[in-house]
Amino acid sequence: MKYLKIIGQEKISGEVKISGAKNAALPLIAATILAKNTIKIGNMPDVVDTNTFFKLLNNLGSTSKREKNTVTINTFDIKETKATYDIVKTMRASILVLGPLLARFGHCEVSLPGGCAIGQRPVDLHLKALEAMGASIEIKNGYIEAKCEKGLQGANIVFDKVTVGGTENTIMAAALAKGKSKIINAAKEPEIVQLCEVLKDAGLEIKGIGSSELTIIGTNKELLNFKDFDIIPDRIEAGTYLCAGAIANAKLTLTNVIPKHLSAVLAKLEEMNFKITKDKNSLTIYPTSFIKPANIITSEYPGFPTDMQAQFMALATQAQGTSVFDERLFENRYMHVSELVRMGADIHLNGNIASIHGKPGTLSATDVMATDLRASSALVLAALVAKGETNIHRIYHLDRGYEDLEGKLKLLGANVSRHNE
Ligand code: EPZ
Repeated sequence: MKYLKIIGQEKISGEVKISGAKNAALPLIAATILAKNTIKIGNMPDVVDTNTFFKLLNNLGSTSKREKNTVTINTFDIKETKATYDIVKTMRASILVLGPLLARFGHCEVSLPGGCAIGQRPVDLHLKALEAMGASIEIKNGYIEAKCEKGLQGANIVFDKVTVGGTENTIMAAALAKGKSKIINAAKEPEIVQLCEVLKDAGLEIKGIGSSELTIIGTNKELLNFKDFDIIPDRIEAGTYLCAGAIANAKLTLTNVIPKHLSAVLAKLEEMNFKITKDKNSLTIYPTSFIKPANIITSEYPGFPTDMQAQFMALATQAQGTSVFDERLFENRYMHVSELVRMGADIHLNGNIASIHGKPGTLSATDVMATDLRASSALVLAALVAKGETNIHRIYHLDRGYEDLEGKLKLLGANVSRHNE
C-alpha cells in the first residue's frame, strides 16, 4: 500500500489544469451500452474508478482502448449481463449498468452494492423506478435480478428524494423503453445534464434537461447512434484546488473549468473573504488578509455540494472564528474529523452538525488515515499548511477520483511525494 508524504507550509502558486469529471464519466461509460456504434470519448479522467468501469464493460464483452485521456469504446458485442461482486464491491457506481443492461437485454444481474464509509447508500429508489417501468426485480444471493423480457414501458416516475444515481439509471432505462416517461423530482447536477445532452445528440427525444422534470420518448429497444464527445470538467476537483489555494493563501489559476458549475462553492469562498476572478473557462483565487468562518448546509445541486464539505472543513480550521456545518445528504460523512483533530483542529460533532473552531496556523503534521475520496483530499489540504511532515495513509481512496494529484500539486510548488508503506 502507498502513502503520501507532504511537507507543509511550502509556498504554492501558479496554474492547474482541471481534468474531466469522474461523476460525469461513470454514467456516460454506462450509457455506451445503449449505443450501436463505436464512440470516441475525450477528456476522460485517468482515475481508478473510470478504469474500473471500462473493465466492468469489457468483462461484459465490450472493447475499449485508452490513449491518455481519450477512450474509444464499442459495446455492440456485449453478451454477458451480469455485473459481478468482485467489481461492484470496489466501486458502487457499477449500479449504473442496471438501467441500460435491463433496457437493452430485458434481463440482467447486478451485485447489490453494500454500504460505504459515508453511509448506508441504499438503491431502493433505482429499483422502484425500474419496477414502475414494468421490470420484475428480486434480490437473490446478494444480486439484483431484474427481468423485463417484453421490454420496459414508459412510465411516470416521481422520486421520493433527489437521487443522482437513481435519476441516471432511470434516464438510461427510459431511453430504450417503449413510449413516454416523465421523471419528476429528478436530480439536476451538471453531470446529469451532460448525460441527457449526449443522449439527445445520439437521437433521443428528451425534454426538460437541467430541470427537475424530464420527459423522454423511448426508442423501444432501438439502439442509439452516439456522436463522439468530451467529458465536462470536474467541478469537485476544481473546488478542491480552489480550497488548496485558499488554505495556502496562494494565488492559483484553474484552467479547463466551467465557473457556473461552481456557483455555490464560489459564493462560500467569497463569504470566507476570498476574491475570485472568473473567465470563460478559468478561475483565479487570490490570497486574503484573513479567513472568515462560514456556515454550510449540504444539499442537491445547485446547492452546496456534499462532495466539497470535507475540503471546506479543512479550510474552516484556518478561519478566525467558528463555522457550523450541517451534512444533510450522507449520515456518516465526517470520517475526516477525527483525523483533522489529530492534526490539532478544534472540531465538535453533534450528530450531523459539526462546529469548527478555527485557529489559523495551528495545524501540526502527523500520520493520518484516508477513509474515503473527499475526506482524503481534505487531509491533503490540511497537510499543505500543517507545520512539518504529514503522512497520509490508504491513499488508494484519492486515486479513485483525483487524476495525478501529486503531479499537479508539485507543479504548484508543493512538497509532495508517494511512498510504499
Ligand atoms: C452521487 O452518488 C455521487 N457519485 C456522489 O459522489 C455524491 O456525493 C452524490 O451523488 C450526491 O451528490 C457519483 O456520481 C458516482 P444519491 P449517488 O443517489 O448517486 C439516498 C464522490 O465523492 N438514496 O444522489 O450514490 C442516499 O443514501 C461521490 O465523488 C436513497 O435513499 O448519490 C443519499 O443519502 C461520493 N435511495 C442520498 O439519497 C436510493 O435509491 C443521495 O444519494 C438512492 C439514494
